[in-house]
Amino acid sequence: MTEILEIWGGHPLCGTVKIPSAKNSVLPLLAASVLCQEKVCLEKVPDLSDVQVSLALLRELGVSARQSGDRVLITPGRQLKSSLSTEMMHKMRASVLFLAPVLSRMGSVDASLPGGCKLGARPIDIHLDGLEKMGASIHWHEERLYLRAPHGLQGAEYTLRCPSVGATETLLLAAVCARGTTILHGAAREPEITDLAKFLGVCGGRITGAGTETIRVEGVPSLFGATYTPIADRIVAATVACACAAAGGCVTMQDVRAELFAPVLDVLEKAGCNIRREEERVTIERRDLLHGVGLVETGTYPEFPTDAAPLLAAALLQANGESCIQDTIFPKRFACAEGFGAMGARVRLQDAALYINSGAITHGAMTCAQDLRGGAALAIAALAATGKTEIRDAFYIKRGYADLKSLFRQLGGKMRMFKK
Ligand code: EPU
Repeated sequence: MTEILEIWGGHPLCGTVKIPSAKNSVLPLLAASVLCQEKVCLEKVPDLSDVQVSLALLRELGVSARQSGDRVLITPGRQLKSSLSTEMMHKMRASVLFLAPVLSRMGSVDASLPGGCKLGARPIDIHLDGLEKMGASIHWHEERLYLRAPHGLQGAEYTLRCPSVGATETLLLAAVCARGTTILHGAAREPEITDLAKFLGVCGGRITGAGTETIRVEGVPSLFGATYTPIADRIVAATVACACAAAGGCVTMQDVRAELFAPVLDVLEKAGCNIRREEERVTIERRDLLHGVGLVETGTYPEFPTDAAPLLAAALLQANGESCIQDTIFPKRFACAEGFGAMGARVRLQDAALYINSGAITHGAMTCAQDLRGGAALAIAALAATGKTEIRDAFYIKRGYADLKSLFRQLGGKMRMFKK
């Protein structure tokens, strides 16, 4: 049995949608809640499979975690465990974010390597190197990782080899309750990092410089709880914007600021869309043919986000003129190229660059999602193509979109999800 998303394309999208909290903000906050000695309540949390895995990881550790509507409630347990099961670790990349909080709280943690979308090699060397600099001992046994810091973690000055989002989050989580001061150089600047620092601050952490390359953390003995609403999901917003660009129409996104996904909006504007940026609200309109945009390169924030690369590619399949999207973060970002080709698109994949030629008329096809954003990109391409598309293995899409079919149905898209 696999989950199939069936889409009848060729209908413009019109209407208004609300953008939920960001998956990539919610997941580190759920890991951070291990450090909190009081209740944590997160609001506007989408019902994603990765959120469910995080809640299961919390329960495995002995923390009470439940979702009620769009709220998640976490109540600290009296006795925490320090072991994370291989089964849960393998289910997603963000499981790695539990290592530092459990190590900091319990003095030891054992786990397996994290799973996640197959976008090329995704090592965790920077996470581990940074933890080692903060006093953790690390050893491997039968594919399990054992970290120990029986006397607690010690603040340190550390330069990240590259601005990894996950490693910056790991080291923030390690530093916030470590002894003394930690200074991180070469940190990632993504808005989800700033959001994590803000949440930790609300819980009593002392962090400055988040959102810049240098973050300073003064360790505190423990954290309180908080009620917190994570930032809007800039990649869900980019998905809606790219879908409107692909299928045509006029869509308003509420509860999201344009600055969060400015590079995506700028490219869509260059391709011929009209964008209206208001406070907490963005409207995109596409009436005429799109133009090719030449070269777009992804990069770390505030550059064009890698997660939006396949989404933009799906929109540009409809453009007159050539485009090339070069992903500089992940070598296998465009597994969706095969599905684009099956829909009649004229695309060529060379290493991590996708070349999109003009003039193709796309039609529905049998396709298969191979990762989260690539799966969403196939859905965007299908909304613009004529006829019916089937996207097999649509469970990938549920990692990052609570209910993609309802999101697009609200806008007049024709979709259904079923199991076969
Ligand atoms: N890297 C290393 N060593 C490390 C860590 C990272 O070499 O220890 C490399 C990676 O292999 C990659 C680059 O650094 O080439 C960037 O990886 P990063 O650590 O920044 O990514 P991540 O933390 O694994 C998060 C998001 C991704 C998003 C990237 C980049 C979460 C849970 N995931 O991943 O989101 O693409 O940052 O912005 O926050 C998604 O939502 O679909 C998704 C894949």
